[in-house]
Amino acid sequence: MNEQQKELSLQANQPKAEKDYSRYFQRPSINSARKRSREQAHVHRDFVIEQSIKNIGKGKKYLIQTYGCQMNEHDSEAIIGIAEELGYSKAESQEEADLIILNTCAIRENAENRVFGELGRLKRLKRTNPDLILGVCGCMSQEEKVVNQIMEKYQYVDLVFGTHNIYRLPEYIHNALMGKERVIEVWSQEGEIIENMPRTRQGSIKAWVNIMYGCDEFCTYCIVPYTRGKERSRLPEDIIAEIQHLAAEGYQEVTLLGQNVNAYGKDFKDREYTFGDLLNDLNKIDVPRIRFTTSHPRDFDEKTIAALAKRGNLVEHIHLPVQSGNNEVLKRMNRKYTREMYLQLVRDLKAAIPGVSITTDIIVGFPGETEEQFQDTLSLVEEVGYEGAFTFIFSPREGTPAARMEDNVSEADKKDRLNRLNEAINRGFRAGNKRFEGQIVDVLVEGTSKNDDTMLAGYTRHNKLVNFKGDASKIGQIVNVKITEAKTWHLAGEMVNDDTTN
Ligand code: 5AD
Ligand code: SF4
Repeated sequence: MNEQQKELSLQANQPKAEKDYSRYFQRPSINSARKRSREQAHVHRDFVIEQSIKNIGKGKKYLIQTYGCQMNEHDSEAIIGIAEELGYSKAESQEEADLIILNTCAIRENAENRVFGELGRLKRLKRTNPDLILGVCGCMSQEEKVVNQIMEKYQYVDLVFGTHNIYRLPEYIHNALMGKERVIEVWSQEGEIIENMPRTRQGSIKAWVNIMYGCDEFCTYCIVPYTRGKERSRLPEDIIAEIQHLAAEGYQEVTLLGQNVNAYGKDFKDREYTFGDLLNDLNKIDVPRIRFTTSHPRDFDEKTIAALAKRGNLVEHIHLPVQSGNNEVLKRMNRKYTREMYLQLVRDLKAAIPGVSITTDIIVGFPGETEEQFQDTLSLVEEVGYEGAFTFIFSPREGTPAARMEDNVSEADKKDRLNRLNEAINRGFRAGNKRFEGQIVDVLVEGTSKNDDTMLAGYTRHNKLVNFKGDASKIGQIVNVKITEAKTWHLAGEMVNDDTTN
C-alpha cells in the first residue's frame, strides 16, 4: 500500500479549519501512473457526507459538462449525485451556475483542445460571477502536462481533481468555497472501489453499470492506462445486485462498462470468476437487454462466446476494436494479437451468434504505417463486414511509447486514408441496415425523432436506429416494428401491433 492509499480515509470529508497544502496540492505524475501493484483493490461501502457540509450547495446550482466516453458520462452521474446531496440543484445555463465542472477526455489532442477552448470562454463568467466555482476533472486532469498548464494559464480554475478521488468531491467543494483558494488534488495511482457513492442516473430507460475500472493493456498509443490506473474489478455480487435493482426499477437496457471488459475478474485473488461467468449470471436477471463496451480481442475467451450464444438478454451486437489489419502495425501498437487471430475470433463469434453485428475502432496513420499496411486494414474491413466503426487519425499522447516513435506519415496521407476507410465503413453500415428490410425487429423506444415528434426513435438489439410512426406512450417500451426501408443512417419502419414484447 502506498502513502497515498494509507492516507485514504472516508472520514476525510470532515471540513478542515486550515488549509493544508501538502494535501490539497497534489499533481499527477506519469511515472507513478505507470506502476502496477499486485494487490486486489479494496472495496469501501462507507462513503458519507458529513452533516456539517451537507447543505453547502443549498440555493446554489451546478452544471456538469461531460466530454468523451461512456465511462465519463457514468462518472458524471456520481458527480451530479454528490452535488445534489450537497444541496445543489441543476442549472439550465452556464450563466446561472454556481458550480461548473468539466469532466474531460484525454484520448486525442482535439478532445483536449475543446476543453481548453471552453475554459478560455468560461473566464468571462468568472469575472461576472466571482463566486462561481470552476472545476476540471476526468482524464485530462490525470496528466501532468495539463495540470501544469492549468496552473500557469488558467489560474481562475478553482478545483482540479482526478479519476481516482471523485468521492472526495464534497470536501474539495467545501474547501474551494471556504478557502476561496485553488484545490488541486490528483492521485496518480489507482484508488479503491467505492460502492456506495450517490448517483443520479441521467436516464430512466437505459443505464450504465461499471464492472471494472482501469486498464493494464498499455497499447502504445493510448493514454488510458495512465489516466485510469490499473485494472480493478467490482465484485460480481455488487454488480448483480445493482442490475437486479435496475431491473426492478423498470430499466430496459444495461450497458456494462470497462476499458477492457474481457479482462474482468483477472485481478481477483480469492476466486476464479471471469467475464463469461458474469455474463452467465446476468443472463438470468429479468432485464430485457444487456450490452457491454469495450472488448479487447485478446481476452475474448470461449466462455464469453458460449455465454453470448445463449442470447436471452445478451444482445447480438459486439464492439470489437481492431485498430489495424496489419500484423506489423498491431505489434507496434502492442495489441498482442494478429490479424489471423482476430479474424478467427470473428468467425467464432459469427458461428456462435448467427447474424451478430460487429463494430470496431480503427486508427489510421500510426507512426510508420505504409500504404500497403493500410491496405491490410481495408481488406480486413471487407472481410469482417463491420456494420459501423469509430475511425481516428493517430494522435500522439505525451508519455506514451507511440508518441516517441517517428511520425513519418504526412497529414495529407492520414486524411486520405481516413476518407477511404470511412467509405468502406459506410458501405458496411448500409449493408448492415439493408439486411433488416422486410424483417420484424424489437425496438426499444427511447423518444421521439429529433426532426418530427409524431415519429418515435429507438434501437434494435443489433444497435440499429429505427424511426417509425407511433404514440409517445410507447417511450420506454420494447415494440415490434416491421422494417420498410433502410435509409443511409437509420431504418424506417411501421409498428406491427400494440403488444410489447417485454
Ligand atoms: N490516437 C488516435 N486514436 C486513439 N484511440 C486511443 N488512443 C488514440 C490515439 N492516441 C482510439 C482507439 C480506441 C478508441 C477509444 O480511441 O481506437 O479504441
Ligand atoms: Fe487504451 Fe488499449 Fe486499454 Fe483500450 S485496451 S483503453 S486502447 S490501452
